[in-house]
Amino acid sequence: LAGMFKQETLTGRRVIITAGPTREAIDPVRYISNHSSGKMGYALAEAAVEAGADVTLISGPVNRETPDRVTRIDVTSARDMHRAVHESIEGCDIFISTAAVADYRPDTEANNKIKKDPDAADETLQLTLVRNPDIVASVAALEQKPFVVGFAAETCDVISYATDKLHRKKLDLIVANDVSDSSIGFNSDDNAVTVIGPDFEDTLPQTSKRQVARQLLDILAQRYHDWSE
Ligand code: CTP
Ligand code: CA
Repeated sequence: LAGMFKQETLTGRRVIITAGPTREAIDPVRYISNHSSGKMGYALAEAAVEAGADVTLISGPVNRETPDRVTRIDVTSARDMHRAVHESIEGCDIFISTAAVADYRPDTEANNKIKKDPDAADETLQLTLVRNPDIVASVAALEQKPFVVGFAAETCDVISYATDKLHRKKLDLIVANDVSDSSIGFNSDDNAVTVIGPDFEDTLPQTSKRQVARQLLDILAQRYHDWSE
């Protein structure tokens, strides 16, 4: 019973969550993107509101309702997301990066729809891609940095890749999941994750993404309070 009252909440804390995919334009009608549904980010936004936080969701294009009492900022590309994050970051206590940010974008966006050349003998088309900014690393590098949480969806060596990202991006926590298992992957309803910090590793059993979000938010709030003391 004591545990029920010990739970630390996020009353008055500002939480920013990125969610969903980004779209990187090739021309006015085409883009490069990924299958992220935004489900985890939106579920975390709901859980953070329940914990009393003031929540801003910076969302790539997804087909979802905005959770109650969440401020939602819609963005399209990784660079839009990067800009929106840094425009909102002042006074942020916790930054949670669930977005599946496209790692690369076409180096130029054609002004007009790209046409096939009907006479060309060459049946290939080359696109040159350039790296997008690393949004979560740019937040972790701020002088006034919030508590920064990243996500790592991996298909092999899950823990070691995630731990590497925790250190490389200077995150406070990383949430790792194995997307090679289709029952807990990108578009599934369930998830099973391992929360990794500088000196601990916590594995949550497989359950609905909504339950995982609640449990994750509890762990995260606890770690945030330890960190900010
Ligand atoms: N991320 C980000 N900006 C990017 C790429 C990733 O903010 N341009 C964030 C994601 O939101 C996630 C974390 O970084 O919280 C890890 O994303 P992931 O794609 O696993 O890492 P990458 O560094 O892009 O490495 P990989 O080559 O495995 O894709
Ligand atoms: Ca990536």
